[in-house]
Amino acid sequence: MSDIVRFSVSVEGDLLKKFDRYCREEQFATRSEAVRQLIRDKLTRRAWATDTHEVAGTLTLVYDHHRPQLRDQLLEVQHDNNRWIVAALHAHLTLDLCLEVIVLRGPAATLQEIAARLKGLKGIFKGELVMASAHEE
Ligand code: NI
Repeated sequence: MSDIVRFSVSVEGDLLKKFDRYCREEQFATRSEAVRQLIRDKLTRRAWATDTHEVAGTLTLVYDHHRPQLRDQLLEVQHDNNRWIVAALHAHLTLDLCLEVIVLRGPAATLQEIAARLKGLKGIFKGELVMASAHEE
């Protein structure tokens, strides 16, 4: 790890109050700790958005059970991308809702593209991709 460098940041009073509340709620020991983590998160996400290195991810989808067309489209996109899709888990949440968790592995940018295609289908209520590095670092 490199040396710690101090820098000062100018910020509106209102924004700082909100940030301090965030630090308390997330139980950060200090503002610096919170800022460091936010910077790391942001830079990691940004790198992943265009990155070609391999990551693993889960895509969670909640959708309308009463749309046969949507089920067909979900299956079609998954079959089109079978090379990157490791597994899928389906749960019938209620009479009207289905939950699907899709496990993916491949280049970060590819996984984001697949997730965007699936999340964008009509009848999807919620879609969230979580990625983790697929190798130790
Ligand atoms: Ni279902």
